[in-house]
Amino acid sequence: MEEIILQASDISKAYHYPAKVSILNNINLVVKRGETVAITGRSGEGKSTLLQILGTLEKPSSGRLAIAGQTINPFNCRKIRNQHIAFIFQSFHLLEDYTALENILMPARIARKSIAKGSKAYQRACSLLERVGLEDRAYFDTKLLSGGEKQRIAIARALCNDPDIIFADEPSGNLDKQTAQDIHQLLLDFASEKDKAIIIVTHDDKLSALCNKSYLLEEGVLKLNSPSLF
Ligand SMILES: Nc1ncnc2c1ncn2[C@@H]1O[C@H](COP(=O)(O)OP(=O)(O)OP(=O)(O)O)[C@@H](O)[C@H]1O
Ligand SMILES: [Mg+2]
Repeated sequence: MEEIILQASDISKAYHYPAKVSILNNINLVVKRGETVAITGRSGEGKSTLLQILGTLEKPSSGRLAIAGQTINPFNCRKIRNQHIAFIFQSFHLLEDYTALENILMPARIARKSIAKGSKAYQRACSLLERVGLEDRAYFDTKLLSGGEKQRIAIARALCNDPDIIFADEPSGNLDKQTAQDIHQLLLDFASEKDKAIIIVTHDDKLSALCNKSYLLEEGVLKLNSPSLF
């Protein structure tokens, strides 16, 4: 049986200051384990806002969000985020004065796990470094790395706590075509290999065509792109 990992019901978002702006209107979305979902749309349509809300980083104005069967509320949202969710951003958001390995271990540190040499988290971080092909950069400060390398470290960091769902906001927006393709492959492998899910905001038609489902966010409404478009 396919298990639902994320269910968003009637999510709306409006800002009231400095002016009243309605961004999202009654968004409904169901994501199952193993699914890859693309969200496309013009600049300013609210894709990042939606991703932040689905990832529990921002509160909707109204609506209900459930992750791994639990309805999100202010009391459980931090715990659920640490247990189930990871993020990847266009501009990487690495700690530049920390090494690649330290960055990858950061989610384990935040979740207050042991990150000492030989700990489970440390071993996992080392194997993730290998998985993204950067074991020889383990002790480099991330400010020394190229854009593609930084994003591979950000992916390894996202996988550190073994999340069930990854939210990626234009993860290849700053990268050349070939590097972008490598990054996409790493992300798609994650979802298929481990029965996890990924929601990717992207402008890349090729990537959205590779995803199981592709949605267009327009005027606050999420519409499923018909597969025949690709
Ligand atoms: N605090 C706020 N108050 C009012 N409006 C806001 C606030 N934060 C964001 N917005 C508006 O919300 C809209 C959606 O922004 P968002 O960053 O989600 O768009 P996006 O689809 O991700 O765009 P892009 O493709 O450029 O990244 C924008 O028009 C933005 O100006
Ligand atoms: Mg955005």
